[in-house]
Amino acid sequence: MKLSVKERAGKLGRTDLCVVFATKGRRPELPEGVEVSAAARKDFTAEFRANRLCDPVAGDAKRVLLVGLGEAKSADAESLRRAAAIAAKEAERLGVASVTCFVGEAVEKTVGGAEAAGAAVAEGLVMGSYRYDELKSKRKKPSCTAGVLLGAGADFKRGVRLGRILGEANCYTRDLQNRPGNKMRPRDFASEARKLARKGGKITTKVLSEKQMADLGMGSLLSVSAGSIEPAQLVHMTYKPKGKSKGRLALVGKGLTFDSGGISLKPGARMDEMKFDMSGGAAVMGVFHALCSLDLPYEIHGVVPASENMPANNATKPGDVVTAMNGRTIEVINTDAEGRLILADALVYTSTKIKPDTIIDLATLTGAVVVALGHELSGMFPTTRKLAKELTASGERTGELVWELPLLDCHKDQMKGVYGDLRNINSGQGNGSTTGAAFLSNFVGEGIEWCHLDIAGSAWGGQDRDYRGGKTGSGVGVRLLIDYISNKA
Ligand code: BES
Ligand code: MN
Ligand code: ZN
Repeated sequence: MKLSVKERAGKLGRTDLCVVFATKGRRPELPEGVEVSAAARKDFTAEFRANRLCDPVAGDAKRVLLVGLGEAKSADAESLRRAAAIAAKEAERLGVASVTCFVGEAVEKTVGGAEAAGAAVAEGLVMGSYRYDELKSKRKKPSCTAGVLLGAGADFKRGVRLGRILGEANCYTRDLQNRPGNKMRPRDFASEARKLARKGGKITTKVLSEKQMADLGMGSLLSVSAGSIEPAQLVHMTYKPKGKSKGRLALVGKGLTFDSGGISLKPGARMDEMKFDMSGGAAVMGVFHALCSLDLPYEIHGVVPASENMPANNATKPGDVVTAMNGRTIEVINTDAEGRLILADALVYTSTKIKPDTIIDLATLTGAVVVALGHELSGMFPTTRKLAKELTASGERTGELVWELPLLDCHKDQMKGVYGDLRNINSGQGNGSTTGAAFLSNFVGEGIEWCHLDIAGSAWGGQDRDYRGGKTGSGVGVRLLIDYISNKA
């Protein structure tokens, strides 16, 4: 959807559909000259997500859609994002070519200012009109391809621009996620990263081949791709700020394009969902998609170890011992605990070659985090209170909630090997997520601030939130991380 901004003061002009948002117990704010009937106002409860389509009794709008935000004290950016997504869906259902969203002063205040309001409506419209149909032989063209946002001032305009960039980056990540394993292979991560470098001008991309990874001693990562005909790729993207850099950040994303489990083969039921095992990598790509259009004062690196995990004659076997880039030896007890094996080398590479101040990794690492937190939250394992606070706040602002889980020595102890230094799964106890995070900690350089985000639950399968939800990819991580970087002290 193409978005444009107009000042809300003045006459509306001819529109097919004008959307108005309102909280409970308050007369909806309408554009100048537009009036809806008393009956319509009476029917409309402004209950969160409630909506009423009406034929206005005055003004140039053919239709007016009232969308509820609920109680003013509980309404926030997430409410407005969802309300805008409902508007986008309604516009599509009606078959109109464009939708005009009016953001009045009261609504603006309710969600925390003009910039936040502009961003929420833009995100809601863009993400709410997302659909994944590139693999259908007959595709229906979307009818509603334009959104006009009516608000006030430069802040609103800036918010709309940011919201559009973030919405589009989220949709890009969802496209990568939804693409099946035969269309989104490790080499496709490499070509997408090269495309981003051509698009932005601010981004450079380097891709390491299996030969280069072998030369660096990445025996852990290569043990995962061993059984696949598709060679692993290590994607490294770099964003340099225009002015002076305030620090160096690295984002590392698990790019496992299909996880069959390997020799420790997964059961057949829902194995198809393991095409989503690249969601961490897709989120990192999405952040760089957004960075093509943003100016942020940090040097930002994106590292995506991309591989398939397949059973084969030459696949890694349970019991095999492999050596990571930092010299640590790992007993591969279960070839299905492969995410940590590719991340191990990616984290050593990031720590030693990039030397960032902060590393955040995103991975669909464990089924156990879904048991612990469900699909609406990501598990967060921060090494500093500062990072915990910043990411928690970003989660609340973006609706991409995170919940802290511990990184403890007792869990690190559970990952000690018998034949090698480490083992890749813990035995006995079911604490798969904390031991997964503990395993990763062995590969992060001394003194680097780090946070592991386990997005196995949040990357797909969430509740319906109008702009996302359901079986398909959620694009989680992109808006969270851009918000984190933008608000970083
Ligand atoms: N990609 C999976 C984790 C996963 C499972 C994500 C279900 C989303 C939904 C990961 O590679 C894996 O297989 N983990 C195993 C680890 C186990 C063998 C220790 C798991 O969580 O079952
Ligand atoms: Mn696995
Ligand atoms: Zn996996």
